[in-house]
This record gives sequence, C-alpha cells and structure tokens, in this order.
Amino acid sequence: MNKALRRPVIAGNWKMNKTPDEAKALIEEMKPLVADADCDVVVCVPYVDIPAALEATAGSNIKVGAENCHWAESGAFTAEISAPMLKAVGVPYVIIGHSERRQYFGETDVTVNQRTKAALASGLKVILCVGELLEQREQGITEEVVRYQTKIALGGVSAEDLKNVIIAYEPVWAIGTGRTATAEQANEVNAAIRACIAELYGKDAADATVIQYGGSMNAKNAAELLAQPDVDGGLIGGASLKAPDFSVIVKAASV
Ligand code: PGA
Repeated sequence: MNKALRRPVIAGNWKMNKTPDEAKALIEEMKPLVADADCDVVVCVPYVDIPAALEATAGSNIKVGAENCHWAESGAFTAEISAPMLKAVGVPYVIIGHSERRQYFGETDVTVNQRTKAALASGLKVILCVGELLEQREQGITEEVVRYQTKIALGGVSAEDLKNVIIAYEPVWAIGTGRTATAEQANEVNAAIRACIAELYGKDAADATVIQYGGSMNAKNAAELLAQPDVDGGLIGGASLKAPDFSVIVKAASV
C-alpha cells in the first residue's frame, strides 16, 4: 500500500562489536558492494567507532548512526552520551528503544519517549524500536503491545518531527535467535503500526512513515520480507557484520 511513497532504509546495528580499526575495515569492504543501492544505507556503530565510521563513510552513500542517546542535553549521567553530542560530531541517525536496552538496561517506554524527543530536538533521525516478547505473542497481544509502545514513544512528537522517525518492528523472540518472523507476520504487525500512526497523525503521515522489520533478517530471507507491502527496510544485527551478507540485503531492498 503506497509502498512507492517510501524509500526503504537498511540499517545495520553493530551492537557491541568492532574496534575503530575493525569498523573502518568493514566499512571499506562494504562501500563498493552497496555503492549502487537504491535505498538508504545506515550503519549504527558503538560510540567509540563513530569518528572512524564517519571518516570511512565520507563521500559514500553509507550514513552513520549511534545505538542510543540520553534524554538530557548534559549533566551528571556518568557514561551516557547526549543527542547534542551526537549532532556535534556529525551523526545523522540514532537507534532508540532497542529491546536489548529495554531488557538489560532497564529502559522503559517513558525513557524511550524522552530519548526520542531529545534526539529529534537535536535534529537526529530516530530509528525507534518496538516489538513483543514471545509470551506476549503467545497470549495474542502482539498488536496491543506494539501499539502501546508506539503511542508512548511518540507522545509529544509533532507531525513535522515524525518525518524524522523510522519505526523498526523487532519481535524480541526473533532477535539474534535465528528465528525470523514469517513475511506475513512481519507485514501484519507493520501494517498495525502504520494504522496506529494513521490514528495519531493521519493517513498521509502513515503512508510516508518508513517501518522496518528486524530480527534475524539475513541474506536468505531478506527478499521475501522486504517484498511485503508494509515492510520498508530492515534493522539488521548479526548479518550487518558481514559485508557480503549486508550488501545482499541492501540489494534486496533496492529492487
Ligand atoms: P539480529 O538483530 O539481526 O541479529 O537478529 C537485529 C537487531 O537487534 O536489531
């Protein structure tokens, strides 16, 4: 549905992998493989890799993202990084609300909302992650869960700022497990998220919003997932650490 209105975004989430030298090497390997992509290509890297990644991607079609940011501009928040700091070093994208942050670091829907608003206020593009746990899917409450997460995360976000939000639907049971949602499951939930955006911001805004799928997307299953009408790209963990695999996914999004 109106898929042609949206340019797909393939984003790698490197998580806690790669030193700066390794980041540079991986990006150098990726650059020629994704140079003719007909989609947006992003690599979200650990904070310390950001300068190396920005240098290595300069002049290429690969954009750099961070994996999180704090909600305050500055202050007594040891080890945190603020959105203005990311903006100052020239990072255009940031992932917010990844399930690993929610699961291991106590992030809540409320802090996800605060971080989202801070990132948008600094002019960053946000990749906002939502997704249900296995128990929630088994209880049949997947749509309620993702609608609830989406609504809270976007509380106070204007229609203008929504243009800088990409939503990544990532079922928690599919992340790093090798267990992918079927193309139908991914499309069904992405469509539910789009319907939720339409309720909040209207149909045109919903049609324009990029909604990715993430969770064990790889070189083999990407084409089928990305062909779905409501799947506008992917957030890729494991497979984004291998340049040939990542480039196959980028090509699958470019058709
Ligand atoms: P995965 O991770 O592709 O390794 O499942 C996806 C993610 O966590 O964004």
